[in-house]
Amino acid sequence: MIDKIEKILADIKAFQADNKEALEQFRIQYLSKKGTITELFTEFKQVAPEMRKEMGMKLNELKNTIQDIIDEQQKKFETKSEGKTDIDLSLPVYAMNGSRHPLSIVRNEINDIFKRLGFVVAEGPEVEDDFHVFSALNFPPDHPARDMQDTFFVTKSPDVVLRTHTSSVQVRVMEQGKLPIRIIAPGRVFRNEAISARAHCIFHQIEGLYIDKNVSFADLKQTLYHFVQEYFGEGTKVRFRPSYFPFTETSAEMDISCNICGGEGCNICKHTGWVEILGCGICDPNILKACNIDPEEYTGFAFGMGIERIAMLKYQINDLRLFFENDLRFLKQFENA
Ligand code: PHE
Repeated sequence: MIDKIEKILADIKAFQADNKEALEQFRIQYLSKKGTITELFTEFKQVAPEMRKEMGMKLNELKNTIQDIIDEQQKKFETKSEGKTDIDLSLPVYAMNGSRHPLSIVRNEINDIFKRLGFVVAEGPEVEDDFHVFSALNFPPDHPARDMQDTFFVTKSPDVVLRTHTSSVQVRVMEQGKLPIRIIAPGRVFRNEAISARAHCIFHQIEGLYIDKNVSFADLKQTLYHFVQEYFGEGTKVRFRPSYFPFTETSAEMDISCNICGGEGCNICKHTGWVEILGCGICDPNILKACNIDPEEYTGFAFGMGIERIAMLKYQINDLRLFFENDLRFLKQFENA
């Protein structure tokens, strides 16, 4: 039997498969259920006890050698058969030219801060129905924000609109009914506004939603305070002013001490020392009800900010249109950001 094994070993060492089929044939000949190795293992049962150890080792060596040959040769067919070229797809992307858009940079930075607080990113469609953009968010039927002035309609009755805020994503997440919820919804939004240095018909938001038992306004304040310290630097002051949104009660707008003049007063903060950065509030119980969440058991907070506004403050950009013109002279300034 030893001779037999030695002979096979010698035979197969020089084996070269010309194609996949030949390799498969080779595998069947040696390793399949009815193959040579199985036969040898059957023979092995009759081997005298004193020979067993040596024989067993030889047999295993043979089996491993065959497997190695197959594995090795398989590689050459894999690369060829998948039609791969000389292009190395695993090369790092940063070796290429180009840089991130400032809005992407800012969005990623804001996302990262909230991710560290346990928020996960949620996304939804830009073309939405009335329910997710307005009705579920407690907008009365005659609310001015539904007016043609603000909203781009795709079709009328049924109302299909371009979302005017990413709160629609919050509704979609609430509908799924999995509690607690801790999400941020970054995305593009649309409003029918005249384009100027301070307004655009397309812009970007990041909205947040946190629903759990015992969520209070204190949680909202602390979360946003933490965000501001991380993003605009320690020592940045915040203040909340009462406000109104149909979907929150209590509602507030949050200002930060002007990061450009440090609160002294400048053009950006219109000499007040404060700049508004977001809207926020405690979820109105009606919102929770509309999504089948029991407001007696659960409470939540929400907030929403414009990414352009944050980017303008961070990089001291005074014209919103620059973000959309893709002038290379503008974009190149963010290459190392
Ligand atoms: N959705 C509001 C807007 O687009 C922002 C907001 C979100 C306000 C959540 C309060 C709570 O203006």
